[in-house]
Amino acid sequence: MKLSELLTRGSELLASVGIDSAEVDAQLLAAHVLGISRGELQAKLFLDPEIPQAPELLELFQKRKQRIPLQHLTGVAYFRNLELAVGPGVFIPRPETEGVAELAIQALRLVPEEPIAVDLCTGSGAIAISLATEVPHSKVFAWELNPESESYLRQNLRGNVELVMGDISEDHQLFEDLAGTVDVVVSNPPYIPNWAIPRDLEVQLHDPDLALYGGEDGLDIIRVVSRRAMQLLKPGGFLVVEHADSQGQLVADLFQADGWRSISIHQDLTGRDRSVSAIKGL
Ligand SMILES: C[S@@+](CC[C@H](N)C(=O)[O-])C[C@H]1O[C@@H](n2cnc3c(N)ncnc32)[C@H](O)[C@@H]1O
Repeated sequence: MKLSELLTRGSELLASVGIDSAEVDAQLLAAHVLGISRGELQAKLFLDPEIPQAPELLELFQKRKQRIPLQHLTGVAYFRNLELAVGPGVFIPRPETEGVAELAIQALRLVPEEPIAVDLCTGSGAIAISLATEVPHSKVFAWELNPESESYLRQNLRGNVELVMGDISEDHQLFEDLAGTVDVVVSNPPYIPNWAIPRDLEVQLHDPDLALYGGEDGLDIIRVVSRRAMQLLKPGGFLVVEHADSQGQLVADLFQADGWRSISIHQDLTGRDRSVSAIKGL
């Protein structure tokens, strides 16, 4: 089969089940099978060669049609300037979290010497590794509970990141050792209320439950993050936490009740509230 014919078939197949990004996904799967970039794929389309890997690609289209996430099929997710290994058992990092990482990076860059950051609920390591690579003089500690995420995390680790596998709600010697020494705490924790099942099948069926659900009001882990960050940060230290677009004021109120100062709600690129930052009082 020729490349153009395969791409048309892939786009139609994926569009038929309501995948919005059908054409792009078909191209990305083709690029993955051919071992080239999407740009190179588009250049290849001019010559429109026969594709010997057609059976493999058609099988991937079928899997994507069953709403298996694109990133599980290609094995990679892109986050800021990182290419991260992902697959079943690890949360796929989202573009809106790039803005949350940016706020943490800006705060970390202001610390002149040996800044310390902590990423609570690190998943694939997306935020922690961005901090460590974009602020190379920093030391970053990353916490994750889900053992199924660990092998991806270890593949992704680079920069000065120390990984701790454990529950952030439980005491740990390292929390004691770091108490009052940390400059920045960042977290994209689970925050969906238990009863609010995500509409996208890719999320509902393939992101780990542990990564999605945060109790009856969705804020259980954010409460833990607030307490932990208060323990870890130096006076004047910076906290930023991602939340659902409906939770901005709830998280700001929660931070207010916990004694945080300079509380701000931040929007993502589409103008929706997506994170709250705060400063630990002096
Ligand atoms: C929404 S995902 C975010 C992952 C990553 N920070 C990102 O932005 O892509 C939340 C992560 O928190 C982890 N998690 C949930 N509860 C936790 C807990 N009590 N302690 C540590 N990690 C936890 C989940 O396993 C999941 O990897």
